[in-house]
Amino acid sequence: MFAYATLVISDGYRVYFKCENQMSSPEAETAADSFRHTSVLLHGAIDALVQDASGVYLDGTFGRGGHSRLILEHLEPHGRLIALDRDPEAIKAGQQVSDQRFQLVQRDFARLGEVAREQGVHGRLSGVLLDVGVSSPQLDDPSRGFSFMRDGPLDMRMDPTRGESAAEFLARASEAEIARVFKTYGEERFAKRLARAVVDRRSKQPVTHTLDLAEILKTAHPAWEKGRHPATKAFQGLRIFLNGELEQLDAALDEALEALAPGGHLVVISFHSLEDRRVKRFIRYHVRGDTHLPRGVPVRDDQLNRRLEAVGKSQRPSAVEIADNPRARSAVMRVARKRA
Ligand SMILES: C[S@@+](CC[C@H](N)C(=O)[O-])C[C@H]1O[C@@H](n2cnc3c(N)ncnc32)[C@H](O)[C@@H]1O
Repeated sequence: MFAYATLVISDGYRVYFKCENQMSSPEAETAADSFRHTSVLLHGAIDALVQDASGVYLDGTFGRGGHSRLILEHLEPHGRLIALDRDPEAIKAGQQVSDQRFQLVQRDFARLGEVAREQGVHGRLSGVLLDVGVSSPQLDDPSRGFSFMRDGPLDMRMDPTRGESAAEFLARASEAEIARVFKTYGEERFAKRLARAVVDRRSKQPVTHTLDLAEILKTAHPAWEKGRHPATKAFQGLRIFLNGELEQLDAALDEALEALAPGGHLVVISFHSLEDRRVKRFIRYHVRGDTHLPRGVPVRDDQLNRRLEAVGKSQRPSAVEIADNPRARSAVMRVARKRA
């Protein structure tokens, strides 16, 4: 059996370098196999991403490595893949990938530029992939506290070692703050009413568990929609807020644009309209360039600072993929190429 890769501590984060072919450790297998993730838009995403088989790629959302593994299959021996995830469980699962072209770093994707600089590939990436949101293992593991279907401690942090848990937030936030989170990040129509119910309940007993919160929201929600648990939007709001998901996405898009090589591809898969709207606006802004120039002023194309070309239209999973993996149903993929 080969020894596992070198472990480097960098700025409080673990960095795993895959230096030689290793056999996976039993612990890593157990961690990864207990909850599985089916990658969404797998082949479409990698076909769009990998245009140069000897290029350097960055997968900002390793998860359980479905996309990363397919990228590696497309790469020649001189190709390289750097993958990131903020979740320690994803990093543990990544220990199963034994490939000397692969490196896995525990870091927020908002800091992908920093990782690219550390690796000496900033401005040289052939492609960046972001498959944002949560993974099935995160949702399915009750101890992570993401699911209103399974009981567990109300945590909801992708990296449970940092920031505030959902229980801590619900214990200290004002009613108005809770309502704002439900409304802004969950797009919940009855945010104020649900926030009031949470605050009423916590005055008697703290809200510490997922099913407890789900029950409070269910009881308070006045308009149940067919086929959707009444806690869905409020749970989504809490998760997006606690993990700073929209801010992370905005930062990662900017960072990716700088870190890509001219001609490099950006592929983003998002799972709800709050994310997709941002990706769409970002691509449109950089496709159009500096449109704030006064009308009628003659400008050459190169003065517009157009930095991206959109590649095709947005893509959604096929009916077959959705039937196979219902969690794929809201996915949207957008692809752009950095202009030379
Ligand atoms: C939808 S899953 C990705 C699945 C992956 N493409 C696969 O095929 O297995 C999203 C992953 O991104 C990670 N993630 C989400 N936001 C992140 C962020 N801001 N920085 C780093 N990782 C993040 C999550 O922890 C999760 O593991």
